[in-house]
Amino acid sequence: MKYLLSLIAALLVSCGGPVYESPNALEALPLIPKPRSVVSELGGFGYASGVAVIAEDPLLDDLKAWVPEGDAEGAASGPIVLALGYPHASAEAYRLTITRSEVRIQGTSPAGVFRGLQTLRQILAASTPDPTTRVRVLPLGVIEDAPILSYRGTMLDVARHFFTVAEVKQYIDQIAQYKINALHLHLSDDQGWRIEIKAYPRLTEIGAATEVGGGPGGYYTQEDFLELQDYAAQRFIQIIPEIDMPGHTNAAIVAYPELNGNGKAVSPYTGTAVGFSTFDARNEAVYTFIDQVVQEISALSTSPYFHLGGDESHVTSKEDYVFFVERVGEIIRTHQKTPIGWDEVAQTDLGPGSVAQFWSSEKNALAAADKKMKVLMSPAKKAYLDMQYDSLSPYGLHWAGYISVQDAYNWDPLSYVPGLDADQILGIEAPLWSETISDSSGLEYLAFPRLIGLAELGWTPQSLRSWEDFNRRLTEVSYPGKQAE
Ligand code: ACM
Repeated sequence: MKYLLSLIAALLVSCGGPVYESPNALEALPLIPKPRSVVSELGGFGYASGVAVIAEDPLLDDLKAWVPEGDAEGAASGPIVLALGYPHASAEAYRLTITRSEVRIQGTSPAGVFRGLQTLRQILAASTPDPTTRVRVLPLGVIEDAPILSYRGTMLDVARHFFTVAEVKQYIDQIAQYKINALHLHLSDDQGWRIEIKAYPRLTEIGAATEVGGGPGGYYTQEDFLELQDYAAQRFIQIIPEIDMPGHTNAAIVAYPELNGNGKAVSPYTGTAVGFSTFDARNEAVYTFIDQVVQEISALSTSPYFHLGGDESHVTSKEDYVFFVERVGEIIRTHQKTPIGWDEVAQTDLGPGSVAQFWSSEKNALAAADKKMKVLMSPAKKAYLDMQYDSLSPYGLHWAGYISVQDAYNWDPLSYVPGLDADQILGIEAPLWSETISDSSGLEYLAFPRLIGLAELGWTPQSLRSWEDFNRRLTEVSYPGKQAE
């Protein structure tokens, strides 16, 4: 027996260093979104600073930089290994295995490995330091994980108030932690036009110089857009550009009055009303303009989608609206993009495979499915991040109701619209309109923690979700804007 013990001790020493034990089980850690399957094993993995990182495939070399740092010097139990070849239908699936001798993240693709790295970061943050060495000790086990929806997004309205490149990058960093993979930028509205179009310079000289409340506005140069897109792509997030039309177009019309279709004199607008502006659907110059705008943005954009808006066109006649949306849909397809529009576009023949973003009308969502369009789930009553939490919220509106953290979490995107087939659902998106916010602190207040719950709705099967369990995990983690306890 004595011999056996010394043999084991010698083996442990030859395996390189101390043996760690985790007091927590992997299954009990507050991971968000909740993974599909977590199996705990007894033991621990010492995660010291300077832990070795190995990429088994050159495609993963860039991802080595994302492996989180341990926060105490000491002996690590082994390397962090990044690998491909996890067999699963989703490109974002991964298996994370923690043994006494390595942490292995195996993805179906680099995107899967990146999602797994977010889980590793959360495990590390929730782990307990070894009482003597202070080296963090990860619990052992295996996580197998994949999203239920392939599109899990948020929208930022940079038109009502402009957000700088640095502010958008900060938001991208934040959403990446919850495995969100789409950022829709609402780049134009009545109050401002926010992207440089080389052939129409007055859009930014004049159209970008306003915002809600009379502030200075701003815009992204084409280089800025590419910089944001690249920053997001490094986090496996696509940016979907939106030019909202035929309504919500006052800023463009102020810059180029020949686009106007409502017959009234135009002036810059810095209020928060909607539904008063429209492009002229029967003027060819309007389509020449739109073709150029779509062409310039599509040449920059790597997203397969182009969002044409199409909401709240209250001063466009129904005939003109249908004619306009179908014509713009054709322009978008000419530039090799798939059109997305707010749910009103389901009243047109935008074409099979195009996307209706359900925000208001279940009838429109069902009509879209009938027309073989895909539906993106953004019901205002649940998913609008700009709604106040309650009547005391310092930011936000409440026309769709107050939305508590629990309300934002307690619904199922796959069954929310009765009669809508889950196969028709492209994904979930949480829009953040910016009438009442103009900087990162307002943004964080409204987005977090509700967006974290919405991220889980798009990732985790309904059978594994419960408000009580989510709320417990939420209280145990830190997130943007959370008050220190
Ligand atoms: C919207 O909220 N007008 C899409």
